[in-house]
Amino acid sequence: MQLNGYKPKIVAFCCNWCSYAGADLAGSSRFTYPDNVKIIRVPCSCRVDPVFILRAFGGGADGVMICGCHPGDCHYTSGNYHTRRRMKLLFSMLDYLGIEKERMKLIWISASEGEKFASAATDFMNTVARLGENRRLGDLRCKSKTEQN
Ligand code: FES
Repeated sequence: MQLNGYKPKIVAFCCNWCSYAGADLAGSSRFTYPDNVKIIRVPCSCRVDPVFILRAFGGGADGVMICGCHPGDCHYTSGNYHTRRRMKLLFSMLDYLGIEKERMKLIWISASEGEKFASAATDFMNTVARLGENRRLGDLRCKSKTEQN
């Protein structure tokens, strides 16, 4: 989706064992999802430090997805339970920083859910597109003088 030529930048952290395989399946099964969703593979969803997310927003991301194995299926036993707790805290902190909560999404996707990954990525992209560009935490050093004003 593109609103008035604006195409949001989405970063998707996917755990290696389930979600990344799900995203891969989406591609090999030809389920389409937006090309502006950039996937970063991590060993487990709990490897995603909240600082990574803030840095993604600071570096120009308009939305961040974290995808992990379903609860109970984490290959490191309880990694996704840690992720769930940690992200709940981060969600409330985003509110404090003035970043809309809708710019973040935590979702469980198994290796066999390629279609789910494609539809979740598309829905999330549409939500972020409606919110518009993320101006909070924008790295002003990367922008020209005219863009800053
Ligand atoms: Fe997938 Fe932990 S290995 S969430």
